[in-house]
Amino acid sequence: MSITILGIESSCDDTSASVIRDGVLLSNIIAGQAVHQSYGGVVPELASRAHQQNIIPVVAEAIKRAGIDKSELSAVAFTRGPGLMGSLLVGTSFAKGFSASLGIPMIEINHLQAHVLAHFIKETPDDTDQPTYPFLCLLVSGGNSQIIKVNAYNDMEVIGQTIDDAAGEAFDKCAKVMGLGYPGGPVVNRLANEGNPKAFEFNKPHIQGYDYSFSGLKTSFLYTLRDRLKEDPDFIENNKADLCASLQSTVIDILMTKLRKAAKDLNIKEVAVAGGVSANTGLRDAFHDHAARYGWKIHIPKFAFTTDNAAMVAITGYYKYMDKDFCAMDAAPFSRVVL
Ligand code: KG4
Repeated sequence: MSITILGIESSCDDTSASVIRDGVLLSNIIAGQAVHQSYGGVVPELASRAHQQNIIPVVAEAIKRAGIDKSELSAVAFTRGPGLMGSLLVGTSFAKGFSASLGIPMIEINHLQAHVLAHFIKETPDDTDQPTYPFLCLLVSGGNSQIIKVNAYNDMEVIGQTIDDAAGEAFDKCAKVMGLGYPGGPVVNRLANEGNPKAFEFNKPHIQGYDYSFSGLKTSFLYTLRDRLKEDPDFIENNKADLCASLQSTVIDILMTKLRKAAKDLNIKEVAVAGGVSANTGLRDAFHDHAARYGWKIHIPKFAFTTDNAAMVAITGYYKYMDKDFCAMDAAPFSRVVL
């Protein structure tokens, strides 16, 4: 009998629902929230209200596009955390109501685990391009920068992580001081394509092991702007592309240096990237470059599965369903967690 999972994601500012049957994607609907743009960041209160408005139409559309009836669903999987508490409460409460009314089990999902398992979403039944265990995954988003050793779908070891800011935050904060809006990562990426990555030099961290740090880079970027603006009030305007290209190449260099070290030390040549920052084209190029140079087998997600989406929640739910790993009705969301 086939296993059909409805996934629900509402951890931040995207309301998403997806249906996956036997590991194969049937639908993945994402409603973003433009309301935050004018505030330069996500406003938690507004995010929860928008989720409340979006969740029913988004779930209805996911079921419709999947071409199924809701009575065919085996279980409902939802993001329990980490994320914004008010946002998570909307998805969690909806999942509880849905599960109770249909009499199907509920599966709680760790958002970070789901990002990693996005690589296992099959778009067609004969899609075989999935990682084999163990593999390394660089998880880079607005809130996380981690190197994870993935031993099995439910066995992940964080071997390195940021001790301060995440890579996405470095992109966003530096973009903000250049007046590039929010989220800044994609804008920096676009402008970087037209700039010289060697035009400016910014500080890189010197820390042992596989951990990351991005706060020094942020400060170094800010001080460069401050000093140059004293001499030339149009400095940012005249150097935007070069600033973005230099910032992007520094972030990528920091990320890849530690990832390379981990792959070498652990002797693992299967390497994946996940999370919002994995949409960065410079980072994707660096992965291809490493594949050619070091013989890595790389896994880069489709753009639709880089940012928050429910397909990754549904695929994680599919694996947990097979292990009968269900949760109780009193499952409460959590805002912070490690894998
Ligand atoms: O995983 P995600 O959608 O949300 C969470 O943090 O949970 O990641 C969002 C982050 C933001 O910091 C955004 O600026 C960054 O991903 N991002 C990018 C790109 N696209 C999104 N950073 C650099 N280049 C991109 N193309």
